[in-house]
Amino acid sequence: MTLTLTDVTLTYPDGDGRITALDRIALDVPAGTLTAVVGPSGSGKSSLLAVAATLVTPDEGAVVVAGTHTGGLGRADKAALRRERIGIVFQQPNLLPSLTAAEQLQLMTHLRGRAARAAGVRARELLDAVGLADKADRRPHQLSGGQRQRVNIARALMNDPAVLLVDEPTSALDHERGAAVLDLLVSLTRQRSTATVIVTHDRGHLDRMDRTVTMRDGRLTAPALNA
Ligand SMILES: Nc1ncnc2c1ncn2[C@@H]1O[C@H](COP(=O)(O)OP(=O)(O)OP(=O)(O)O)[C@@H](O)[C@H]1O
Ligand SMILES: [Mg+2]
Repeated sequence: MTLTLTDVTLTYPDGDGRITALDRIALDVPAGTLTAVVGPSGSGKSSLLAVAATLVTPDEGAVVVAGTHTGGLGRADKAALRRERIGIVFQQPNLLPSLTAAEQLQLMTHLRGRAARAAGVRARELLDAVGLADKADRRPHQLSGGQRQRVNIARALMNDPAVLLVDEPTSALDHERGAAVLDLLVSLTRQRSTATVIVTHDRGHLDRMDRTVTMRDGRLTAPALNA
């Protein structure tokens, strides 16, 4: 299953006119691969993720998520698609202060109405996968920044998404912790065959990606395969 954007254009109102945040973007992310998106501030990276996540509807173009053409979907169908097929990791973890790490993950499936016990087992498997098996019962204030970010990633994987979208996962972390989070995203992408897109400022990590694309003024440069 893949993520495909074809000829995607997104504009925002800007004074009397409109600003073009995405300008005829084409991007194809195969399952089990990572694409890094780099580029200057304001170039459209987060807009690209927002469109891929179906959180923002483009003016033109097509977004296909794991075989589903999102263009014709209404709000409820998009919300269901996000819940079931798309994992989103925002820059800020947005964890709920009163819940333990395991409960943060279980909340995802409560929303979806799955049996609580199965969700609990899955939450602990994922916390184990991100190296936090022994921290499952801790609340956010009892975790380090890197550990919170790993809970955030585990939570995004709770519904076994086909597409994983990650915005600046390492910006709040030192180089070593950032490298560990990136390594985790690489191995989870391979194991779970997600089509993964990571926005990052940190050029030191790009050699771990399958591909790096650069945004500039809403345009994507021709993607090159990483060596
Ligand atoms: N909701 C909005 N309304 C109007 N303009 C917006 C909105 N969101 C983003 N923009 C504009 O669209 C352009 C792209 O913004 P975007 O957030 O995608 O950039 P970015 O590459 O993620 O930047 P950064 O690296 O700073 O996070 C910018 O010019 C920004 O000002
Ligand atoms: Mg951004």
